[in-house]
Amino acid sequence: MATNRTLTMIKPNAVRDGLVGSILNEITKAGFKIVALKMTQLTVDNAKQFYSVHKDRPFFEDLFTFMSSGPIVAAILEKENAVEDFRVLLGSTDPNEAKEGTLRKLFAESKSRNAVHGSDSNDNARIESGFHFSRREQFSS
Ligand code: RTP
Ligand code: MG
Repeated sequence: MATNRTLTMIKPNAVRDGLVGSILNEITKAGFKIVALKMTQLTVDNAKQFYSVHKDRPFFEDLFTFMSSGPIVAAILEKENAVEDFRVLLGSTDPNEAKEGTLRKLFAESKSRNAVHGSDSNDNARIESGFHFSRREQFSS
């Protein structure tokens, strides 16, 4: 069976609110296998680099400040069609527009504090996985 991988982060608000276990439970219930996992905290420069595609957007400063404000949990997830299927599980960026049962409907506070990140392409999944995990920390299924 063809499988592939995506990168997720449980964002600082969700970690702070004790939602790590509940979010990982929803992710594994949906058929994703965790093949790398860590709690870490981004520096301001790390967060600027991770979200550099948004550097000219009006929300960029709020985004990198928030994403570096506390610990996050990063994970690599494996599943057939992982990137696309995880974006479906995530739901819309704005939780007010997210469908029932999606992670953002269940756990997000707001558009800017939306609990969980997911890679938006296979290329970015590879880049973002390498950003958080060395080869030694990425396991085979
Ligand atoms: P993410 O990258 O975190 O998975 O979120 P996403 O793909 O759904 O959304 P994206 O367009 O990549 O935006 C990255 C994060 O920036 C914040 N944002 N705020 N206030 C706003 O209008 C606004 N737009 C985006 C969100 O936290 C979003 O997750
Ligand atoms: Mg994005």
